[in-house]
Amino acid sequence: MSRMSSGPAVHQETEMVRQIDRNAEPPSSSPEGRVRRGPVDLSVALAGVTLRTPIVSASGCFGSGREISEFYDLRQLGAVTVKSMTLDPWQGKPTPRMVETPSGMLNAIGLQNKGVEYFLQYDLRWLNSAKVPVIASIAGNTKDEFVRVADRLRGAPGVIAIEANISCPNLEDKDSMFSHDAKATAAVIAAIRRQLEVPLFVKLSPNVTSITEIAGAALDSGAQGLSLINTVVGMAIDIETGKPELGGVMGGLSGPAIRPIAVRAVYEVHQAFPDVPIIGMGGVMNAHDALEMLMAGATVVAVGTANFVNPESGIEIAAGMEKFMADRGIRNVAQLKRSA
Ligand SMILES: Cc1cc2nc3c(=O)[nH]c(=O)nc-3n(C[C@H](O)[C@H](O)[C@H](O)COP(=O)(O)O)c2cc1C
Repeated sequence: MSRMSSGPAVHQETEMVRQIDRNAEPPSSSPEGRVRRGPVDLSVALAGVTLRTPIVSASGCFGSGREISEFYDLRQLGAVTVKSMTLDPWQGKPTPRMVETPSGMLNAIGLQNKGVEYFLQYDLRWLNSAKVPVIASIAGNTKDEFVRVADRLRGAPGVIAIEANISCPNLEDKDSMFSHDAKATAAVIAAIRRQLEVPLFVKLSPNVTSITEIAGAALDSGAQGLSLINTVVGMAIDIETGKPELGGVMGGLSGPAIRPIAVRAVYEVHQAFPDVPIIGMGGVMNAHDALEMLMAGATVVAVGTANFVNPESGIEIAAGMEKFMADRGIRNVAQLKRSA
């Protein structure tokens, strides 16, 4: 995922998604494909910080941003959300880890990452030199692991918020995901919250009966914001062998196929908790999709799978939004949302 600019595997992934997305509307952008300066102000406030645009990267789809920085200056994004990190390195799931599906892709990476120390030593230093705000995504298999990762991130420079990816098996409770249970969500969030000096966003899973119930549990336990949605659980079977196509058997569906689910989830949660900042994501491929997500109630929009199709999608989406707003005389994002 983090090696989109080189290597056959990456080329294959990029090609795969390009094919599945061939029907997607091309992003509307300025001729240069860059955010244009003009009367439109795209800046938004998140976690007490003013972001240059409401477009941020989604965790796991952007690496640390190094490779994408070969395509554009990351300061043109609102922020970079990094791949979820755990206390120690995680090896991830067996291959194959990605499968093409209609208008989307399934992945079962298994949160492969090099651990929080590596992040602090290498990725964060690099991101700081790129001068881009960082949203640090954390993961763990126990409450204690989450707490220890959060603790290591205390005072980390440039980290404006922590995003807790609670779509992880809870080893202390029959391996059921933290994010699928209101009590487990409340317990892990309350524990993480105590360690933090920066706002805590909780990333919610759509694979639940009531997303507002889980959102409420997270907020009652001290979360200041919500990120939604994570991938939708899915599966694909190779009919020649009769075996699952993913090494991990089941995986997470992302891309345009899940966008209506994401829009519904953001809308529902925003209606229930109108004052809570939301990082909305799920299948956002172009400016239209980002505008739709903002109108559903998102404060900012995260772009994930689209980066595999087009590494410049983040800034092209921002440019398309700017054009849409300029054409309609909408001067800022607050006005855009009021007009919805
Ligand atoms: C290859 C891949 C890896 C991902 N890794 C993570 C991760 O480490 N942590 C996380 O919270 N979400 C992860 N996600 C989920 C995305 O951040 C996002 O929530 C989801 O893909 C929906 O957005 P999209 O359709 O724009 O990709 C991953 C998604 C993909 C496709």
